[in-house]
Amino acid sequence: MLLRVRGISEIAPEIWQITIGGEFPYETIQPGQFLMIRVGSGKEHVLRRPISIAAVTKESMTIILRVVGQGTKWLSERCIGDSLDVLGPLGRGFPRPEKDARVLIIGGGLGVPPLYFLGEALQAETDNVDIVLGFRTKEHCILTGEFSRLGHLVITTDDGSLGINGNVIDAVVSLRNSGRRWDYVYSCGPQGMLSRVKQHFSSQDVKGYVSLEEHMACGVGACHGCACPSEDHSVTRRICVSGPVFAWDEVSL
Ligand SMILES: Cc1cc2nc3c(=O)[nH]c(=O)nc-3n(C[C@H](O)[C@H](O)[C@H](O)COP(=O)(O)OP(=O)(O)OC[C@H]3O[C@@H](n4cnc5c(N)ncnc54)[C@H](O)[C@@H]3O)c2cc1C
Ligand code: FES
Repeated sequence: MLLRVRGISEIAPEIWQITIGGEFPYETIQPGQFLMIRVGSGKEHVLRRPISIAAVTKESMTIILRVVGQGTKWLSERCIGDSLDVLGPLGRGFPRPEKDARVLIIGGGLGVPPLYFLGEALQAETDNVDIVLGFRTKEHCILTGEFSRLGHLVITTDDGSLGINGNVIDAVVSLRNSGRRWDYVYSCGPQGMLSRVKQHFSSQDVKGYVSLEEHMACGVGACHGCACPSEDHSVTRRICVSGPVFAWDEVSL
């Protein structure tokens, strides 16, 4: 689908927020789903780039990306009115909790954007939302004002320049020590963080879901470039069609 850039701004160093509009099935998008976006003419960069959907309205959607290579650089250089060739919405999003369930959202770095869309959607289902977001430094923090409206927010930074000086697990431990408990844990971020989150909750009675954003090629189930082993390594799952969201016990982290 050919959509148009409606807004673009740098919200943190090398992190860009882009709003895209045009004809698209916005009402069908589930939090956790993603887009495959063509870069340039599609000739120099054959593979589309997967980017999560961070927010949706009736006539537009927002993505947030970090510039790490040529594809994301090209995207960050778009101007209002430019067209974007977009495939989506793709993948399986976050399953929703029961009404009034106690929810913990844990995001790290550029894993945070899809969780914002989830947090907004959860407003219709529960008031019991705790949010832990981890960043490298205060400068790298994104969407903190937006998340603070969605629940009880705790921020951590690796250098202590904002919030707790430590990582997301330190914040989770501190919340547990203050008596907080959860029925659902949703997380997205670097693989190491997801693995520690899963390990932390392994002996606890919570339903846990992760969004895996590490590897992808075609994005539509054709190449097996995104294969990820199941927890017991008996089968592999394609992240682009079976995920990117998985229950903890579905994948090896
Ligand atoms: C389902 C899904 C959702 C995603 N959502 C977002 C998002 O909302 N915002 C965002 O900024 N990024 C997101 N990503 C990651 C994003 O797709 C990559 O950063 C992007 O494709 C890199 O393209 P590039 O051409 O700029 O860099 P490349 O030239 O392809 O790579 C540059 C460097 O980045 C590393 N890299 C490439 N892809 C990834 C990746 N998936 N994870 C970690 N490192 C990578 C490479 O190893 C290399 O070191 C998502 C990935 C997936 C699979
Ligand atoms: S990226 Fe090609 S099968 Fe998933």
